[in-house]
Amino acid sequence: MDSGNLKIAVQKSGRLSEKSMTLIKESGIRLTQEGKLKLVSAGQNFPVEVLFLRDDDIPQYVADNVADIGIVGENEVMEKQKPVDIIDRPGFAKCRLSLAIPQSMEYNGLSFFNGRKIATSYPKILQKFLTENKIGAEIHEISGSVEIAPGIGLADAIFDIVSSGSTLISNRLKEVEVVLRSEAVIIASRDISGPKKHILDQLLFRIHAVLNAGNNKYILLNAPNESLEKITALLPGMKSPTIMPLAEKGWSSLHSVVNENDFWDIIQKLKELGAQGILVIPIEKMIV
Ligand code: PRP
Ligand code: ZN
Repeated sequence: MDSGNLKIAVQKSGRLSEKSMTLIKESGIRLTQEGKLKLVSAGQNFPVEVLFLRDDDIPQYVADNVADIGIVGENEVMEKQKPVDIIDRPGFAKCRLSLAIPQSMEYNGLSFFNGRKIATSYPKILQKFLTENKIGAEIHEISGSVEIAPGIGLADAIFDIVSSGSTLISNRLKEVEVVLRSEAVIIASRDISGPKKHILDQLLFRIHAVLNAGNNKYILLNAPNESLEKITALLPGMKSPTIMPLAEKGWSSLHSVVNENDFWDIIQKLKELGAQGILVIPIEKMIV
């Protein structure tokens, strides 16, 4: 029997696990403490269940409604080609899907792969790329530890996820072609409706509040009154900045919100406009 809770599939262990769980926790969801081997954990204060699965299986489970939504690498969604919708991009686990060869081998372009054997867990994505580029290579599908294949003579090259690149280095491989880029996505079943849709909307609202907060900082500063107009233009804030007079005549205190991406640029300009005592404070949640 379906409990009516929204079931969220996350990667049991791997690149996405920790950040996925952080996102759920920062959304204010407390989960029952379960042992490491437990596959399901229930929300104590929010109607969800978290299912811990292999990332490769998540698209299938969501398509079959075993889970309602999943947090998974876009690479798995593209490879598995299941009927699910990508509903959000939380902005973490950015990586590339690349071809890599032994460091000792010389690389002279894509034709290198003609007649070679390539090990991968992503045969569909790779086949499409090879066909598009008219390369005739043999794809050897393996489900894990792809990076050891060349070293043990199982393949000439690999096609796999590269994030920091340390897996490649420790296996004496070098990345020679980036085929596509990937990141974490939230996927949803196409059959969510009624009360579950309502829980999902609430959850997405919370997730957005967490993600918005992460990109923004609260900023406080003191400025001479004659610069206030220019500073306000630099720091529009959520609606407009708060401005309060200081005890010292001709000066005001200004509070606003600044995006992390523009941060250093803006700080430089603020100093040029005579701003002093600039404080920058992290924001925990932000509802826009
Ligand atoms: C991927 C991939 C590599 C590793 C690369 O595993 O298989 O092992 O990440 O990361 P690096 O460049 O930082 O060393 P992933 O967690 O995506 O899932 P998997 O173990 O199911 O392949
Ligand atoms: Zn996997």
